[in-house]
Amino acid sequence: MAKLVSSWSNGVNSVPKDYVLPPERRAGDFVTVCNEIPLIDLEDDRSDIVRQIIKACQEFGVFQVINHGVSDKMMEGMMALYDEFFNLPVEDKLGIYSEKPLKGCTLYTSGLEYAKEDVHYWKDTLKHPCYPIQEHSPSWPNKPARYRKEVGRYVVEVRKMGFKILDLIREGLGLKEGCFNEVSHEHAMAINHYPPCPDPSVAMGIAGHNDPNLITFLQQDHYGLQIYKDGKWMGVDPIPNAFVVNLGYQFHAISNGKLKCVEHRGLLNSSVSRTSIVTFFGPNPELPIVVEPAKELVTSSNPQMFKAYRYNEFIANYLARAYIRRPGPFSGSALDPYRL
Ligand code: OGA
Ligand code: NI
Repeated sequence: MAKLVSSWSNGVNSVPKDYVLPPERRAGDFVTVCNEIPLIDLEDDRSDIVRQIIKACQEFGVFQVINHGVSDKMMEGMMALYDEFFNLPVEDKLGIYSEKPLKGCTLYTSGLEYAKEDVHYWKDTLKHPCYPIQEHSPSWPNKPARYRKEVGRYVVEVRKMGFKILDLIREGLGLKEGCFNEVSHEHAMAINHYPPCPDPSVAMGIAGHNDPNLITFLQQDHYGLQIYKDGKWMGVDPIPNAFVVNLGYQFHAISNGKLKCVEHRGLLNSSVSRTSIVTFFGPNPELPIVVEPAKELVTSSNPQMFKAYRYNEFIANYLARAYIRRPGPFSGSALDPYRL
């Protein structure tokens, strides 16, 4: 518990040396928010939305949505809840603390395996599986007292929005209804908490990565999220109560390379703590689920880009690669072993 950034960083006026990144892995020049990342209004005309989403997924692999059906009140309530959660006294969080993320509900710090890291990340994360709610909610935190009830409601609403967005993408790709059922079955949340950092230019919240799953929905309160496109980092505007939707590796493979998955990272700031509430849909990593490019998207002019692979094997490779440290942005792709 003493390792959680939130437990020791308050009032600290320099960055401890095991959080100082070597110069080539630092954020570099401060990148301002960019307004090129598509913003999609889910109350627009359906065929327009489908077109806009496919274009965004082809060019960026990320977009933001508004009028998505999850109420402002619920989203603000979630931010307030997590603010309280991360400020609870240590003894209230001890039961779920772990040095690395486990299968169930876990509160951990930094990257995926603190003990193996040469440098740590300025981040604490609470993560847990979400669906079916009745099966998983008994493992969720019971403080603040309203946690299970409020998060249960959020899970239902975000799930509705998520499946609606998946169906719009499905339609835009010309695929059959229900084709993503198996690969979107697993619904999990990670809540990242980045306390203020005395020198954001030398430390990092979360290093550049692509999400391993199918699709991710992120709610954030302050600036910090950046995406890598055309050789440079671009800041994602923290639009109040919008969701940032980004595609993970599985969408790139299933769409036969038609849709991008986007590399992204999280920077810090020195004045406020930043929280992101992240929902992941993906295949169940415990089952030997086979992922492959959709047959409809493989043609003579678009030959099959990836061979079929098992998701659980992909995840094992992905996690192993997470410890390969490279200078600068992520240079390889976790899909390389499956490329044809
Ligand atoms: C993630 C992630 C970014 C953020 O949890 O996969 O990319 O802004 N988070 O917290
Ligand atoms: Ni991510």
